[in-house]
Amino acid sequence: PVIHREDYLPPAWLIPQVLLDFRLGVDATHVVSTLSVTRNPEGNGTSTLRLNGDQIAPLAVRVDGREVNDWRLDGPDLLVELTGEAHSVEVETAVNPAANSQLMGLYASNGMLCTQCEAEGFRRITFFPDRPDVLSTYSVKMRGDKAQFPVLLANGNCTATGEGEDGTHWAEWHDPWPKPSYLFALVAGDLVANHDTFTTMGGRKVDLNIWVRPGDEDRTQHAMDSLINSMKWDEEAFGREYDLDLFNIVAVSDFNMGAMENKGLNVFNTRYVLADPETATDADYDAVEGVIGHEYFHNWSGNRVTCRDWFQLSLKEGFTVLRDQMFSADMGSAAVKRIEDVRVLRIAQFPEDSGPLAHPIRPDSYQEISNFYTATVYNKGAEVIRMMRTMAGPERFRAGTDLYFARHDGEAATCEDFVKAIEDGAGLDLTQFRLWYSQAGTPQLTVELDHDGARTTLTLTQAVPATPGQPEKQPVPIPLRIALYDRDTGAHSGEQLVVLDKDTGSFTFDGFAKPPVLSINRGFSAPVAIDFARANEDLVFLAAHDDDPFARYEAMQGLVVQYLVAGVSGRLDDAARTEGRAAIGAAFAAVIDDPELDDLMRGELMILPAETYLAEQLLVADPGAIHAEREALKAWLGSECGEGLKALHDRAAAVPYGRDAAARGARKIKTQALTLIAAGDPAEGARRALAQYRAADTMTDRQGALMVLASLDAPERAEALADFHQRYTGNALVIDKWFSLQGSAFHPEVLEHIKALAGHGDFTMTNPNRVRALYMAAASNPVAFHDEGGEGYRMIGELIRKLDPVNPQTAARFVPVLGRWRRIEPVRAALMRAELERIAAVPTLSRDVREQVTKSLG
Ligand code: ARG
Ligand code: ZN
Repeated sequence: PVIHREDYLPPAWLIPQVLLDFRLGVDATHVVSTLSVTRNPEGNGTSTLRLNGDQIAPLAVRVDGREVNDWRLDGPDLLVELTGEAHSVEVETAVNPAANSQLMGLYASNGMLCTQCEAEGFRRITFFPDRPDVLSTYSVKMRGDKAQFPVLLANGNCTATGEGEDGTHWAEWHDPWPKPSYLFALVAGDLVANHDTFTTMGGRKVDLNIWVRPGDEDRTQHAMDSLINSMKWDEEAFGREYDLDLFNIVAVSDFNMGAMENKGLNVFNTRYVLADPETATDADYDAVEGVIGHEYFHNWSGNRVTCRDWFQLSLKEGFTVLRDQMFSADMGSAAVKRIEDVRVLRIAQFPEDSGPLAHPIRPDSYQEISNFYTATVYNKGAEVIRMMRTMAGPERFRAGTDLYFARHDGEAATCEDFVKAIEDGAGLDLTQFRLWYSQAGTPQLTVELDHDGARTTLTLTQAVPATPGQPEKQPVPIPLRIALYDRDTGAHSGEQLVVLDKDTGSFTFDGFAKPPVLSINRGFSAPVAIDFARANEDLVFLAAHDDDPFARYEAMQGLVVQYLVAGVSGRLDDAARTEGRAAIGAAFAAVIDDPELDDLMRGELMILPAETYLAEQLLVADPGAIHAEREALKAWLGSECGEGLKALHDRAAAVPYGRDAAARGARKIKTQALTLIAAGDPAEGARRALAQYRAADTMTDRQGALMVLASLDAPERAEALADFHQRYTGNALVIDKWFSLQGSAFHPEVLEHIKALAGHGDFTMTNPNRVRALYMAAASNPVAFHDEGGEGYRMIGELIRKLDPVNPQTAARFVPVLGRWRRIEPVRAALMRAELERIAAVPTLSRDVREQVTKSLG
């Protein structure tokens, strides 16, 4: 069944209060739910109370204390007929957490019990109007074996505890803040806490706990620091204060997504909590900080103001991603953070927006909402709000968000409510801008720069491509930060903001004797793709001189993209190849040597564009050709800049361990340099990689070295891989890395390796982190996935078919890579399509996978 946004109806009945009573057991948990039910004056007046369920059965139903038998089931839902205005409805259910491999609802993980309710998991625990516009206050009582579940947690504050019979104990929790069911959480298990406190700007002293399995507590300090920084930052940047006396975070090793913002009880994938230098890379540290911030920021953008329905998901996710991006930018290097965020957008969101699963940031319809937790809703959603901020300026944008929070606190709001609040609070007219919410597809911007006498004319043309269900598009407002550089002085006379809101627009600039060099979309002010054929010399100029760090990165990328795309399209004759390489080589050498650059930024400038991003530049891509061309450039750069790279590697290797930007930058360029050295001279690369591996005093260096070795056909490879596995046996997150880096390796036998790893004793289909470690790596590895014979496609197809009955949500995440077939050369495209058809032929497919496969076949 397809759910449409336009069909929204307010609930007929409201549930102001919920009492939940849990008798906990790993194999059987018994739940008694007591709902205070009142008629919604805004509802349609029906006497039927619809309580959603999913794979549960009602053991007993009582209305106002009396058992009733006239309830009905409508598919998975329970329908109860009510008269009058208010009732108490009680429902008993029982679930088996140990058998819950979907990891939605109440499930067991390593002997502990935990919940995941967003989006529709609460209905797998008890019958309830499981929709985000029904807000209730929750009181929870839970009882369980004291030895098995020494710690009992739920949302809000603990109000009472006690001992029961037969070694049981119990706890009562009360959350005073009305919330939708998707924010409910419960955790029971053997956990230890890293405890601290935070005093809010209003003087509230908040107890903070990060709960982990015994033995993991030494790896929680970075998460705690990140939490405290988040709380402080949200007060300063958005005026948002925490609103309970307690904030708990629990780390769980079996988790479908990154983390979950349940009120006062965030549940996290262990990979976004645990970090120490020995087991986590610098990137892992950043991810912990970002996700801790993200979930904390949801307390306002998501919990205090929640979503009316799931079509509004970007209301909380787009905004909260923007908030976590701003937070991370303030905690570290803003320039590097912006580049990383744009890279993610281009690799994950651009392909989504140009493929069969394209959808607006506020979708119009869905079959399974879990499939819409996408890079579009999250990351493009953040970009859209960032554009509002760019147009308003920081102060006016803040006035807009202040108004939004004040106006909608305690409500289930819509994206329209958000836009209206920014409009009113920031004083913007966003009438046309709303198209960013309704239209899918990445706008394509064509740029022309003409120079005539002393007048320079910039002509911009936009086209929003057709996407499934949206053949015709209207022009959107595109805010572009630009600067024009004078070729003679090497300077520009100030940045300007131009907004293109028509199909075509021209902007004129005076005072340049020679054609200026255009720096456009600085800071990536708009999430668009730009088509601007420019001379290598202009790109080299910008790569060396642009004072906007993103634009500098962009020029470097442009230089390489232009060259590689021309190469794979057969448009590079010998002369053009030589010229293109020379330009790239010169720009690279300048980056390697530039004393003004910090190493974190230097590392960004050294990253070559991803193969998926290159494929995105072509109507129909040959992944084999792209890979070969890109690898050839790496090898050329590795030998052309060999001396500089070796000097860089040596310099970086001498920097002692630290968590400061300089030490982190050194680690970043160390592995970057190593990668290119190995491309140019594999024997030298292997020698240096093994040395780096042996000398490593952090996971960043050790993993970096091992990644380089994993791609080499060198004797050092097996030795290092075996050492790594042995060294980290029993540490799940690090063993994930061991799987992942082998799955990502550009090794000629990578497919054989992946098959062997799938049969390894440490591999399991029931842990999403492990599945993703091996198979997301494989699916993103062009050598494995795009194997000419179609072996990679078969592997992913088989995985989807095997994983679907175990964990449909995770299985569905593997479909989009196969869905790219229309943009791939015909031989591979046919193989990809055949694999999708093989999946579609499975009669018992989950709704999750069915939706993605059907749409992908088109
Ligand atoms: N709201 C969570 C976050 O972004 C994601 C939870 C999604 N869970 C799911 N099963 N789809 O922080
Ligand atoms: Zn979120």
